[in-house]
Amino acid sequence: MTMKVRKAVFPAAGLGTRFLPATKAQPKEMLPLVDKPIIQYGVEEAMASGCDQIIIVTGRGKQAIEDHFDVSYELEKMLEERKKTDLLQIVRHISEMSHLAYVRQKEALGLGHAVLTARELVGNEPFAVLLADDVIDSPVPCLQQLLEVHKKTGASVLAVQKIDGPSISAYGVLKAKPVEGSNGKLFEVEDLVEKPKYEQAPSNLAVIGRYVLTPGIFQELENIQAGAGGELQLTDGLKSLLKKEKIYGCVFEGKRHDTGDKLGFLKATVEFALKREDLGAPLRQFLKELDF
Ligand code: UTP
Repeated sequence: MTMKVRKAVFPAAGLGTRFLPATKAQPKEMLPLVDKPIIQYGVEEAMASGCDQIIIVTGRGKQAIEDHFDVSYELEKMLEERKKTDLLQIVRHISEMSHLAYVRQKEALGLGHAVLTARELVGNEPFAVLLADDVIDSPVPCLQQLLEVHKKTGASVLAVQKIDGPSISAYGVLKAKPVEGSNGKLFEVEDLVEKPKYEQAPSNLAVIGRYVLTPGIFQELENIQAGAGGELQLTDGLKSLLKKEKIYGCVFEGKRHDTGDKLGFLKATVEFALKREDLGAPLRQFLKELDF
């Protein structure tokens, strides 16, 4: 029997340099896609997948994330008095969402280090990691798809997107063999390579920001050395874990938006707005009228 995955870790202590100067005084996780901060999409996905404990790894300048998920008495009172019930509901929904805990990564020493920072709050149980930058639009939440694989295998599972062409170099890439009968959806990982040159990429299977990890990863992260840029890489921890445990890559169904990248963020904003009942039609009209 595999243990139910209850905890979802959101590393959010990165510096967000690609979005400077917007991220000088506000976390990039709070940049809105239309009108909702990107981290809220991830938290909602984790909850819809059955995780009821959210752990956010924060750092300096990330106070706005805690405030966002906290109760805002003044705002609620004002909305109540002005009978803005729709808005009141939206605001209350956020603070009632789930049990949230915060842990501080004092220095941005890498994604692996951020995950390790959550060790005490996670304890000795499997857990999920979500990178808020990756906003995934799918009928079945991406994390839930990974959790189904974890339930069957008890192993760590990485979300994988097939990326053809040179942009594969921006990702951790799998060397992996397909699992029989999985219709090309599931792979057993043989090796991981962080940001390979296009010609040297072992496959087109890129790891994106959703993981289900066994607690064994903590031991590995503790023992590995800092890699590129003095940072503790999660990929290195996974490579080390691979010597002891099986790891699977799951090609999820859904559309991933890389909102950590400026163009990706803009595209996601347009796509999400076009889907909205209140904005879709006028925005579509506006886009048609643009003179390119
Ligand atoms: P990124 O590679 O996107 O880095 O981190 P970043 O600092 O957020 O953004 P850029 O590249 O400078 O624009 C991937 C994820 O890991 C978290 C980030 O918050 C992001 O969710 N992270 C990264 C940490 O929590 N701590 C770190 O030390 C590094």
